[in-house]
Amino acid sequence: MSDVLHQMTGATGSVLTLRGVNTDSGKTTLEAAFEGISQFRIDNSVLHDEIAECRVTKTKAELEVLRFAATVSAAAHRAVMRKIRPGMKEYQLEAIFQHHSYYHGGCRHQAYTNICGSGCNAAVLHYGHAGAPNARTVSDGEICLFDMGAEYYCYTSDITCSFPANGKFTEDQKAIYNAVLSASHAVMEAVKPGVSWVEMHRLSYRTMLAKLKEAGIVQGDLEDMMKVNLGAVFQPHGLGHLLGLDVHDVGGYLEDNPPRPQEAGFRSLRTARVLEENMVLTIEPGCYFIDHLLDQALANPAQAQFLVPEAIARFRGFGGIRIEDDIVVTADGMEDLAQGTIPRTVEEIEELMAEGQQADVFVPQLHAQEKLGQ
Ligand code: GLY
Ligand code: MN
Ligand code: MN
Repeated sequence: MSDVLHQMTGATGSVLTLRGVNTDSGKTTLEAAFEGISQFRIDNSVLHDEIAECRVTKTKAELEVLRFAATVSAAAHRAVMRKIRPGMKEYQLEAIFQHHSYYHGGCRHQAYTNICGSGCNAAVLHYGHAGAPNARTVSDGEICLFDMGAEYYCYTSDITCSFPANGKFTEDQKAIYNAVLSASHAVMEAVKPGVSWVEMHRLSYRTMLAKLKEAGIVQGDLEDMMKVNLGAVFQPHGLGHLLGLDVHDVGGYLEDNPPRPQEAGFRSLRTARVLEENMVLTIEPGCYFIDHLLDQALANPAQAQFLVPEAIARFRGFGGIRIEDDIVVTADGMEDLAQGTIPRTVEEIEELMAEGQQADVFVPQLHAQEKLGQ
């Protein structure tokens, strides 16, 4: 290492090493070290932000790989929607996704720990971790929120599909689903270079609240709801994030970037940047019924006046809906990296699931827990 670096750096002996904090994980990179390093002039201050900035916009070749990962994940999500039956365990659906993305797409790894929340678990944002390992039985009539993404050559995808376990939306499920879908569509229509991601987050809140008002879940003046940040009661997370070699990719808050906003919901944004061509991001609006957020809002007169108490009571335990797509910002808009292969409307989802119920034979299996008598 030392010999090669001497040849490369010549008389300057100058070597840049990578040291910096990842604004997402809060972790510091493990800096390179090698025998003979003391013979060089080491600068560890400039490389981290430069490399991070290089990763924010993607090359043509990177976009090809990202498109591949997203379309593989989309196909695996479709397989799950076809094969799901009430009575299955959440992890069985996770297993179908993993099998499909590896067997048919060659994606050996997943981009993150899969989130397969059914019923009330759909309102747990990072469900599926070791402490809550997708182990619940999916019941008839419940909503499923499955956030799963395959990874290919270290490039990630991050896709969420929400659908009813039995393949047929109830009126309440449809109302929430369509509120979230409207928010997604509004953002997709507005995304282009020069647009602030914080403004996209605001647009998604406004669009979702307008639809929740139509559905009789909130009431009053929309702009007044925005002033008290009512959107964060239903969607406490950010609209989306940069995506690439990391699922929450680097470069969200570099030195000259807009700072992290302070308001609830907005402060969870993993970037507040202005969009540029070839940035890859997720668009993932959601609407959840989370008891402690609802209780907080009901106890706060400024927000409580906009909530319709009977409707809120009815939706407790509902879980939530998230619709998450992976996109690249183009010169005048955006491209869906999955190329429109994910069923998104209520009709498209119901059609695919009905087809799956006809075509795929369901073989009941003994779950591991039952076998072990747990
Ligand atoms: N799957 C993690 C996220 O959506 O950000
Ligand atoms: Mn996700
Ligand atoms: Mn995401």
